[in-house]
Amino acid sequence: MTRWTLAALAATFALPACALFSTPNPVKTKPFGVRKDGAPATLWTLRNGNVEATVTDHGATLVSLICPDRLGQGADVLLGFDDVSGYESTGNQYFGCTTGRVCNRIKKGRFTLDGYDYQLAVNNGENHLHGGGPRSLDKVRWHGEATTSDGAPAVLFIYRSADGEEGYPGNLEIKVVYSMPRVGELKIDYTAVTDRTTPVNLTNHAYINLAGEGAPTILDHELQLFASRHTPTDDTLIPTGAIADVARTPLDFRDPTRIGLRLEQLTSTPALGYDHNYVLDRDGKPGLVDAAVLYCPTSGRELRIATTEPAIQFYSGNFLNGQQGKASKSYPLRSGLCLETQHYPDSVNQPRFPSVLLRRGEVFRSTTVLRLSAR
Ligand code: BGC
Repeated sequence: MTRWTLAALAATFALPACALFSTPNPVKTKPFGVRKDGAPATLWTLRNGNVEATVTDHGATLVSLICPDRLGQGADVLLGFDDVSGYESTGNQYFGCTTGRVCNRIKKGRFTLDGYDYQLAVNNGENHLHGGGPRSLDKVRWHGEATTSDGAPAVLFIYRSADGEEGYPGNLEIKVVYSMPRVGELKIDYTAVTDRTTPVNLTNHAYINLAGEGAPTILDHELQLFASRHTPTDDTLIPTGAIADVARTPLDFRDPTRIGLRLEQLTSTPALGYDHNYVLDRDGKPGLVDAAVLYCPTSGRELRIATTEPAIQFYSGNFLNGQQGKASKSYPLRSGLCLETQHYPDSVNQPRFPSVLLRRGEVFRSTTVLRLSAR
């Protein structure tokens, strides 16, 4: 009998599936192909109960997340590729990667720090996006190893980004730890240290489809965002500096709302759909707070996201173009969405936004938890 059949039986007899599988399994590794530079890529598998995640050292990327639907049927809910060559292809739009050094946009790739002007790569119209060119965090090979985090099986990735890499100041050492502390829970912990003041804003760029990757759309998913405000942008998606209410706009997801309900109102705006930074309603609370709940009515899968970050970018896959992903499945427009926990875009040029500057002697810390279940 397979685990999924057992889970289905548990669902049938109204037993929580997690009661059957609560022991975390050890981390397994296997080859994940060879990078263009000749270096091997490795895939690590984390499992706890009926939920399994895989991660690779190429870009410290989250490759898959397999979880049961309301009948116990497992599916991978992340868009991605079968091996590292897919992640190095033009079809890869930051699928599942660790994104940075500074995720999201920096206006014209410019900022001034301690009296020096910095010019980063301009790779998104006139702006800098997701850490820049060939040495952005999604493209480099990280050191990876199996470890434990608070007693749970985990994978640790480390990357040392040299002073000046992609134009950023300071030698920056970044650690990303993926762990599964509880059944259905994937935790991502980021830490970083620098020897010189530098901006840091890290996120994971997973594309989610809770019906299973390869399903045609996410427009039927219901989304709730714990955010009453957002940061309006100019025509190039750079924040104007204002912070505006979502009330009475198509951006209002304070109550669970079908994504497709009002998306058409945004398709002729510069964002081409949802591509907005939401300010989380922290009410001064430090630590982990609820950021989002995503529900797929057809499968019953639900994803809850909690984060220590002040904001979340909701991106409705507006540039997906039918590229071929896992098992040659195609990923058309809006067949995946991203919920990227982070600081606000262009914070390095916006003194009134929470600071993204990391100084020598400080430790950057950020945690995001993804909780999967079905109902
Ligand atoms: C951005 C989009 C961008 C996409 C690229 C998202 O995080 O908000 O504007 O096109 O990443 O994959």
